[in-house]
Amino acid sequence: VKDGNGVKGIVDSGIKEVPERYIQPPHEQINKLESRTHVVPPIDLSKLNGPEHDLVVDQIVSASETLGFFQVINHCVPVELLESLKNSAHTFFNLPPEKKAIYLKGLSPSPFVKYGTSFVPEKEKSLEWKDYISMIYSNDEEALQYWPNQCKEVALEYLKLSTKIVRELVEILMGKLGVKVEESKMEGILGMRVVNMNYYPPCPNPELTVGVGRHSDMGAITVLLQDGIGGLYVKVDGEDQHSQNEQWLEIPPIHGALVINIGDALQILSNGKYKSAEHRVRTTNTECRVSVPVFTLPKPTEKIEPLPEVVKKDGLARYREIVFQDYMKNFFENVHVGKKSLDFAR
Ligand code: SIN
Ligand code: FE2
Repeated sequence: VKDGNGVKGIVDSGIKEVPERYIQPPHEQINKLESRTHVVPPIDLSKLNGPEHDLVVDQIVSASETLGFFQVINHCVPVELLESLKNSAHTFFNLPPEKKAIYLKGLSPSPFVKYGTSFVPEKEKSLEWKDYISMIYSNDEEALQYWPNQCKEVALEYLKLSTKIVRELVEILMGKLGVKVEESKMEGILGMRVVNMNYYPPCPNPELTVGVGRHSDMGAITVLLQDGIGGLYVKVDGEDQHSQNEQWLEIPPIHGALVINIGDALQILSNGKYKSAEHRVRTTNTECRVSVPVFTLPKPTEKIEPLPEVVKKDGLARYREIVFQDYMKNFFENVHVGKKSLDFAR
């Protein structure tokens, strides 16, 4: 990425075969023929305001307790905004390398904006086939000053609307645990927000590489926009490391829908009831895939532990208390290995 053009730069140079550094060990290569599509219909959030409210709540809760992944439609984010987001992601990554390089770690004009490639390239044996830009929200003014011009307005609007979805979902999920979370605690749990734009260039050997390796998200809830290309997979049972017969389901692209997934912080808070989903992304040799996640995470100083009401009911705490910035540090210092990040809280 030194030339500021990441994996896209490698592809643009006209390679016919994937470079050695990007070849995954055989057990991490993704054979799309081995997985099935997750055919559950998306959850209609507009029905939360009507007679089917309780049914929709049950759908949200049961998806969070099992796969940890679901899709929502009739949410508050206009479909035109979703289209603009995908377009602006393409616009940003298609900029000339020198225009992107200014956002590289160490060069970026703001500590809140970072452009990079793979996840922790310094530590990975095999790199991920992806470029990304990460934009941490602190306030509107900074976002509009420092985020890239090509995407700042749409990204900010999307972040704000996503917050409403996250808020509503977390209230439902907490309610089902029988917990009434005080406003100040809620602000701590959902106090940090980040928008990423991911770019997966076409890969000459998709069977040998991954776009993103197996991992879980560290925050409370992720709202994800994916384009129509597909290739996002979720591991079925969710628990722990790879076994011989693990099963993966593809989350199919649905026009206008948003993907929701539970993160580690919510798994810890719920004492394991809600599942932080292990997921990964395949590459393809045809088109550039883009995705735009909004991560909602606890504030760095927030102490996260299983909620006392839930521990009382369960009779034990499955996780210890962690300060979220320590959890983040551990997360970013290690390569993606399934749900291993959660071991830090055990
Ligand atoms: C991720 O989970 O890191 C990316 C998901 C996606 O690109 O669909
Ligand atoms: Fe993820």
